[in-house]
Amino acid sequence: MIKHKDHFHGSDLEEIEKCFGIKKEKIISFSANVNPLGISTRLRTALAGQLDAITRYPDREYTKLRQCISAYTGAHTENIIMGNGSTELISLFIQVARPKKAMILGPTYSEYERDINLGGGSCMYYPLKEQQDFQTDVDDLCRKLHDGLDLLVLCNPNNPTSTAITNTQMRRILDTCLQYGIFVMVDETYVEFAPNESQITSVKLTDHYTNLIILRGTSKFFAAPGLRLGYAITGNPDLIAKINLRKDPWTINSLAEIAGQIMFQDQGYIQETKDLISTERERIFQILTDWDTVKVYPPQGNFMLMRVLKEGIDAPVLFRHCIQKGLMIRDCSTFPFLDPRYVRFCIMLPAQNDMLIDTLKECMYGKNIDH
Ligand SMILES: Cc1ncc(COP(=O)(O)O)c(C=O)c1O
Repeated sequence: MIKHKDHFHGSDLEEIEKCFGIKKEKIISFSANVNPLGISTRLRTALAGQLDAITRYPDREYTKLRQCISAYTGAHTENIIMGNGSTELISLFIQVARPKKAMILGPTYSEYERDINLGGGSCMYYPLKEQQDFQTDVDDLCRKLHDGLDLLVLCNPNNPTSTAITNTQMRRILDTCLQYGIFVMVDETYVEFAPNESQITSVKLTDHYTNLIILRGTSKFFAAPGLRLGYAITGNPDLIAKINLRKDPWTINSLAEIAGQIMFQDQGYIQETKDLISTERERIFQILTDWDTVKVYPPQGNFMLMRVLKEGIDAPVLFRHCIQKGLMIRDCSTFPFLDPRYVRFCIMLPAQNDMLIDTLKECMYGKNIDH
């Protein structure tokens, strides 16, 4: 058997190609959490006709783009900061805020801890509990906040649990944080996939709270991780000024600048995505809920977390079995608080989702699985 590291990031297709000898074009990635529709025809056509844009510098202020995001999100244009994916904005914010002691709700995306540590700060995790289906116990969380902390990090909906906090709950958290002088960073990378987006997003709260920054991007919902187009929203003018002072100019290239203006107005595509993800998420969740060999947690994002209950099967076994069929899922054992029984996979096209379900079923109910 080929030796390989057990854990691959959702975008490690080159690594997979090397380890398993499967051409990366043949792999269906259930681990990258990217909208399976790909980019819209409207975007493809419009962008192809705009290639000459790279002969010009983009608008240093990205005014038109920020106006489009304002119309799309309901945030004030002046409260929007553009970034090279939400990744650039996470690190810019951490470099500016320089948190000494942060609390992170986990298990979650690992970049927050990495950036905080790189900035010389330390992190402690508030563990989401399996017994509560990884839902946040807001009362308990608020009791754990104190003035020794200067930053709270939340991913909403959270990767990998796919759980979410409502904006009513977020108000409580923000009020408590204000009391203790804690800033709150909310990563809303997956919020547009949530069935009740308006109750989950905290964008409106940026009008009322100055201790809040929201990060968003186009990599997942708009299926454009290679475009590197993200944005942050905050109602704190001092923070905006400090980030802008630190930020390199033109980190969004002129093609991404044009693409953004098309994407955020592409109503047909936005609705089609929401409908596809909602229908398929519900369908797949129902199928897996009926199995006695796995447990799935009610998902709010375009992906779900699953725990294997069947003896003798774990995430590495499932991963290997799926990848041999060209289906790449995420082994979640490297996430804090999760163990080798957890996997995550995203919602793809109906026929692809059926292939994954059939493959998982072979592992859970079939025989002769290669361990
Ligand atoms: C929660 C979360 N935030 C941010 C990112 C990175 O997003 P971007 O491509 O916008 O930098 C990811 C990518 O997997 C993610 O899962």
